[in-house]
Amino acid sequence: MAEFKLPENSRVGQGETWPAPDDASNVRRFRVYRWKPDDGQNPRMDTFELDMDDCGPMVLDALIKIKNEVDPTLTFRRSCREGICGSCAMNIDGQNTLACTKACDEVDGDVRVYPLPHMPVVKDLVPDLTHFYAQYASIKPWIQTQTPTPPDRERLQSKEDRAELDGLYECILCACCTTSCPSYWWNGDRYLGPAVLLQAYRWIADSRDEATGERLDELEDPFKLFRCHTIMNCAQTCPKGLNPAKAIAEIKKLMVARR
Ligand code: SF4
Ligand code: SF4
Ligand code: FES
Repeated sequence: MAEFKLPENSRVGQGETWPAPDDASNVRRFRVYRWKPDDGQNPRMDTFELDMDDCGPMVLDALIKIKNEVDPTLTFRRSCREGICGSCAMNIDGQNTLACTKACDEVDGDVRVYPLPHMPVVKDLVPDLTHFYAQYASIKPWIQTQTPTPPDRERLQSKEDRAELDGLYECILCACCTTSCPSYWWNGDRYLGPAVLLQAYRWIADSRDEATGERLDELEDPFKLFRCHTIMNCAQTCPKGLNPAKAIAEIKKLMVARR
């Protein structure tokens, strides 16, 4: 295999290469971003050659194999391994996605793996999502009511009203969309970004919630909502097939309707 070369102006260094076992016949090469907060070194790209006849099919399987059998210091998040928890979001082959649902066979050539872009890195493939979660908390992601709870049953919802939440409730807060959004890259300190705005709309659209006016008031701000310029990266990258840009457009429509 030809040696992988980083661009000459790259600030990311060539890291170590870990060759496949001598008897491997089905070798794939994984180029993985590495960075430690405490060694004073620049980030680097390590190369791991794996025998795919002895590895599961998903990129997460490869990362787990590397961690278990090659370099136990490789650091990444994962939990469910089935696209439900959102922990394993990372940038694979240039796209933000879930490592557990991304098949290695979907990638041509070397499998390049980076942390989600434009987030501070804690270590290797782990982004710091503190600000993202604080923004999520700011939209009060729970049902808010003023009327008393019915004494003998839950707050009911018609099938039609429940259907309004389709395309919203499936969001697993993986942050793939938010970290692919150019507006968020430049204004993420104040712009809430597609994931949090989709979640905001999830509560606005819920027929049982009684705080729609307050929720819209909170979003009526030049930065929180109106930095979305409909670039659509968010919808293209969402591993659950959701369309945050559409949810953002619905919020904007409601804003206009009440003026
Ligand atoms: S909308 Fe999609 S990409 Fe964005 S956080 Fe939710 S599941 Fe992830
Ligand atoms: S449509 Fe809006 S939220 Fe989605 S990527 Fe573009 S600017 Fe970001
Ligand atoms: S490990 Fe849970 S979504 Fe990938």
